[in-house]
Amino acid sequence: MKKVLAYIRPHLLFFLIAPVFKAVEAAAELLQPRIMTTTIDVGVTTGNIDVILHNGLLMLGVAAIGIVGGLGSSLFAAKSSQGFGADLRQGVFDKVVALSFADIDRYSTGSLITRLTSDIIQLENTSMMMQRIMVRAPLLGLGAIIMTMSISTPLGLALLAVSAVVLVIVAAIMKRAFPMFTRIQQRLDAVNSAAQENLSGMRTVKAFDRATFEVKRFDAINELLYRTSVRAGRTMAFSGPAVSLGMNMTTLIVLWRGGQLVAGRELHIGQIVAVTQYITQVLFSLSMLGFLLINLVRAGASAGRVAEVLETEPSIVDSPPAMTVGAAAAAEAAASGAAPPRVTRGEVEFRDVDFRYPGAAGAPALQGVSLHIAPGHTLGILGGTGSGKSTLVNLIPRFYDVTAGQVLVDGIDVRHYRLADLRAGVSIVLQDTVLFSGTIEENLRWGAPDATHDEVMEAVRMAQASDFVESTADGLGAFIGQHGVGLSGGQRQRVSIARSLLRRAPILILDDAASALDFRTELRLRRALRSYTKRSTTTIIIAQRVTSVMEADEIIVLEDGFIAARGTHRELIRTCPAYRDLCRLQLGEGAVACGQ
Ligand SMILES: Nc1ncnc2c1ncn2[C@@H]1O[C@H](COP(=O)(O)OP(=O)(O)O)[C@@H](O)[C@H]1O
Ligand SMILES: [Mg+2]
Repeated sequence: MKKVLAYIRPHLLFFLIAPVFKAVEAAAELLQPRIMTTTIDVGVTTGNIDVILHNGLLMLGVAAIGIVGGLGSSLFAAKSSQGFGADLRQGVFDKVVALSFADIDRYSTGSLITRLTSDIIQLENTSMMMQRIMVRAPLLGLGAIIMTMSISTPLGLALLAVSAVVLVIVAAIMKRAFPMFTRIQQRLDAVNSAAQENLSGMRTVKAFDRATFEVKRFDAINELLYRTSVRAGRTMAFSGPAVSLGMNMTTLIVLWRGGQLVAGRELHIGQIVAVTQYITQVLFSLSMLGFLLINLVRAGASAGRVAEVLETEPSIVDSPPAMTVGAAAAAEAAASGAAPPRVTRGEVEFRDVDFRYPGAAGAPALQGVSLHIAPGHTLGILGGTGSGKSTLVNLIPRFYDVTAGQVLVDGIDVRHYRLADLRAGVSIVLQDTVLFSGTIEENLRWGAPDATHDEVMEAVRMAQASDFVESTADGLGAFIGQHGVGLSGGQRQRVSIARSLLRRAPILILDDAASALDFRTELRLRRALRSYTKRSTTTIIIAQRVTSVMEADEIIVLEDGFIAARGTHRELIRTCPAYRDLCRLQLGEGAVACGQ
């Protein structure tokens, strides 16, 4: 929670000035009935026009001061709370971006969106309200009670007693409502998650004709949000009538007792009028306080949720852990003032690596994986879905950290690199291609903003994307929609391969990146890649097709997180029956015979 409040600090000055202006406004409001008393009792009852005029002008002047106070407070309150909200949103966003894959797996996208929008808006509004009400309402309420007392002590005491009772009732109602608002935000998370999933998966939903099902599912989640909100609203609804009832009772007392006092010539009519106005002010300030309390309660729930994100420490950070292989070298380099290590040669080694997804039950995703890829060499990875291929390569740029064992790049444990340096050295085409809305060129340059035009064109050519890029009217300037809408799956894959090639990292990983390409295009891509990687790029190719990895220096076959077989294409045909079957299936009997 402290982390949330810290974001107010830069705006503290305006945050504190706003209530001062508000206090000026309240003082002006308190003065009005008082001036009115003399206007009525001295001016109106005796027909003294001078007093009426003089007091009238005075009231106008006081009202003008009140207006300045009101405007000033609104301005400063808006500035400080909007500034606070914007900074907080940026802070949360920065945090989300810094989180590792494992941390992100913990929150649903919908929940992060709710926290970034609804929760922060709630905090923003409450901060604004606090500045405007927190000082003004108690000041107005207490001031009105004191003013009443100065007119008549018994009437003032009655007002004070009733106000205290009303305040206790309102506080009790709020206490009951607090947990309901936490629940409302959780329900809102669910609604956002469902909406977000459906919107981004719209095509799948339609393809499977599951719209009716999804509408029903959404309806149920939405209904839950509705019911929770109504329940909270119902609880809160009691606070308004409680305030009115209390105040109407006081008015009754004042009129009854006040009447007696006027008859006994102890009070004037004007004073009774002023007291009823003060009662209205107390009523107003109590309702405002109630309103503020509701919002504080809601903001409390929201602040907790925002703080949760801010307090999540990224599980993968730059700090070097305990001594492991390479630590000595890295520490020595750091001590001698040398620059932190960078990936230059592109050597990759796995030593007895075990990996289990955080919180996942059952067998680990990887077990006892050891392998070595010399700089400039190519490793092919085959294996059924779920065998751990993507998991294995995700350990190289440290999307996740190993559970046991080590991953080394250029002989240094990946944990000893600065994350930015490590990831600059590893270019990965992920299995799920993600493109952003923008032109093709913007997407290509996304990972390499400084690339020259020639470099961009070369990457496009190598990724076999020239033909369709040139076929569009705008060429590289052609616009692609969100998630790459407007491109076919294969085109999307080629753009994302070109994007990775453009980074010219010493290590290139293709995670099933050519799966949507037709056979011929893939063949051309492989040839182009071979000429590219001759410039000493270490390449890892995950594929379903034997042809994609056939020419690799080494091929490993993964099964349930183990390396079931390894060797060159020829060796595997001889030694691995499963590989032989795969070849027979995909290449035909001749290829297998030829391999032997
Ligand atoms: N983020 C994740 N959290 C938990 N389990 C995961 C996650 N990603 C993958 N897995 C599990 O790890 C195993 C290996 O997955 P993966 O490496 O993606 O397989 P492949 O790429 O070979 O198809 C699977 O059983 C999968 O369910
Ligand atoms: Mg995969």
